[in-house]
Amino acid sequence: MNIGVFGTGMVGGTIGAKLISLGHNVMMGSREADNEKAVKWVAENGKNASQGTFADAAAFAEEFIFNCTSGMASLAVMEMAGKDNLTEKIIIDVSNPLDFTHGFPPTLSVCNDDSIGEQIQNTYPNAHVVKTLNTCNCLVMVNPSLVPGEHDVFVSGNNFSAKSKVTDILMNWFGWKNVIDLGDITTARGAEMMLPLWVRLYSAVGTPNFNFHIAR
Ligand SMILES: NC(=O)c1ccc[n+]([C@@H]2O[C@H](COP(=O)([O-])OP(=O)(O)OC[C@H]3O[C@@H](n4cnc5c(N)ncnc54)[C@H](OP(=O)(O)O)[C@@H]3O)[C@@H](O)[C@H]2O)c1
Repeated sequence: MNIGVFGTGMVGGTIGAKLISLGHNVMMGSREADNEKAVKWVAENGKNASQGTFADAAAFAEEFIFNCTSGMASLAVMEMAGKDNLTEKIIIDVSNPLDFTHGFPPTLSVCNDDSIGEQIQNTYPNAHVVKTLNTCNCLVMVNPSLVPGEHDVFVSGNNFSAKSKVTDILMNWFGWKNVIDLGDITTARGAEMMLPLWVRLYSAVGTPNFNFHIAR
């Protein structure tokens, strides 16, 4: 399957490499078609890897686009991708609205009664946004067994079929055992607001390989 990955950071690179390892064709999108990090990632990932602008990657995607861009820039990225290229696509949004302009710890650029996931969904009503994976480190995203024991990933989205397809990717491609459907895209607010806790936990536990588990 041809899949678009927006983002040249460690998340885009890690998810893109995992998708390639599963036999998919992946185009990494960036502001510049010849982005240096994307060039390096393509060289490392073989013939099924390619690069382009955000618009190129969105057009390339048959059904799924992973949004692995800075949350504060994600709406601008979607605009660069182009409305027509996003129509009827499933946008798997792993971004977080982290604002580091005042240093550490970051604040949230949007929260409480709004979220990045909702902003993308509301701006592009003909795309299906599914918020997920934003509450764990990218190595854990594609290899949850890095964290021993039971632990959970969340999904938020308005379209049931899109959420079900993304849940299938999480379980059958990435190896997640526990996927909790939080509800519609407004539930992305809570998932994004877990990040102030996540960044402090990272400092407290000293490894990014941890995750949340909802014990019942
Ligand atoms: N690090 C993790 O393990 C982790 C875990 C969970 C969630 N997340 C979230 O995943 C996302 C990606 O994280 P990351 O660390 O891999 O990368 P990042 O540094 O947060 O974002 C890199 C991407 O954002 C784009 N970008 C930055 N500023 C932009 C602007 N002003 N306009 C347009 N595009 C812009 C860059 O475009 P160019 O390619 O053109 O430079 C690049 O593709 C973030 O939202 C992060 O909070 C990260």
